[in-house]
Amino acid sequence: MTDAVRLDDHDYKVMQGSVGPEVIDIRKYYADSGRFTYDPGFTSTASCRSTITYIDGDEGVLLHRGYSIGELAESSSFMEVAYLLLNGELPSKEAFDTFTTTITRHTMVHEQLATFFRGFRRDAHPMAIMCGVVGALSAFYHDSTDVHDPAQRVIASHRLIAKMPTLAAMAYKYSVGQPFLYPDNSLSYTGNFLRMTFGVPAEPYEVNPIVERAMDRIFILHADHEQNASTSTVRLAGSSGANPFACIAAGIACLWGPAHGGANEAALNMLREIGTPDRIPEYIARAKDKNDPFRLMGFGHRVYKNYDPRATVMQQTVREVLGALGVTDPVFDVALQLEEIALKDDYFAEKKLFPNVDFYSGVILSAIGFPTSMFTALFALARTVGWVAQWNEMITDPDQKIGRPRQLYAGATARPYLPVGQR
Ligand code: SDX
Repeated sequence: MTDAVRLDDHDYKVMQGSVGPEVIDIRKYYADSGRFTYDPGFTSTASCRSTITYIDGDEGVLLHRGYSIGELAESSSFMEVAYLLLNGELPSKEAFDTFTTTITRHTMVHEQLATFFRGFRRDAHPMAIMCGVVGALSAFYHDSTDVHDPAQRVIASHRLIAKMPTLAAMAYKYSVGQPFLYPDNSLSYTGNFLRMTFGVPAEPYEVNPIVERAMDRIFILHADHEQNASTSTVRLAGSSGANPFACIAAGIACLWGPAHGGANEAALNMLREIGTPDRIPEYIARAKDKNDPFRLMGFGHRVYKNYDPRATVMQQTVREVLGALGVTDPVFDVALQLEEIALKDDYFAEKKLFPNVDFYSGVILSAIGFPTSMFTALFALARTVGWVAQWNEMITDPDQKIGRPRQLYAGATARPYLPVGQR
């Protein structure tokens, strides 16, 4: 391990985390050299020091506070993973019971929030609604917007985690013209969400334990993922001291993009457009064609240059859920064959493009009954836990200050203003 590297006659400290690549502390590089570093996609930039999630992209490893995603998906629950991400350790039974009771007691939203939905068209995309109503939470919970008050940070964190399922279910109900259902505190976090989404006031709703377990596992797989685009958005928004509700709304907006969380919706739409296995070669060829903007949605990743471990669990879960529900979906067969063909193709092998978390998730969500337009809202629901954990870490990090990148300026240099008659 080297202690420092020398750049332009100055030494810069090399820092080593507990695992993963070393980093060069270049905070003083501009002051020393008058130069900026250039890294527009942050492919070689560590934006922060974090203890929450570790990814080894070459090995396909994902750890949350040191626990592998495979073990958490198999043995834990979304609420337990939420506690782990927020607090750094798995909870005792007492601590877990206290945590889940607290979250349960925050699942209702202010009654006036329901009127916000009525301002949207019925066909509004659920992510457009989520951006709006989550940002609006800061208009209702003034008692938990002071980011420098630890007690308010805790309350805001619990409110956000607790209310996202309620708001996501309301977004779905609004889109189908059905009445909103209030939370039912006798149900689990995930069971409550399923009932608010698929239940109706006219009759009791029985949570299907197979669906509940699968949904809870899907939430676990989406909970956090290091410094991805939406998490970095939340951190950057939070670095200005913006309130947590506004920061999470910013994260939702970023997640919506098809290159990021919007890929789950795009992936299922793509698989449905392909339709039958015989059309797979046509789409593989398009994905490889530099002149065609088409990409295989749900494939490739900035960090994973191996199989996304979440995709492995997701594929297994598809088999379990479809089998248990007695559902056959030809789209799943298309997905399996598309993966098999792509992974044998030199283009994908050379570029190390593998299925990511979004490739199979839509098959399960569709089997459970969600429209594709809800897929990214479900991603946002789960990722709120990671965003909140990362936001809290950023706020309490002594190294953190307002994020303010610089640029390589390539525009016009100084020139005199010319009156219109002289142009
Ligand atoms: C998520 O960051 C995270 O952790 C995100 C996430 C999380 O949990 O937060 O994991 C969730 O966002 C998963 C990714 C979902 N997006 C998609 O599935 C959309 C399709 N994938 C891509 O657009 C792409 O792979 C990205 C955006 C995911 C990653 O892009 P990068 O790292 O910027 O890589 P790139 O665009 O520079 O691609 C490298 C090469 C290019 O070819 P060349 O220009 O080098 O010749 O690989 C090609 C790309 O054209 N490529 C693809 C491809 N993805 C990359 N070619 C065809 N199909 C694809 N899907």
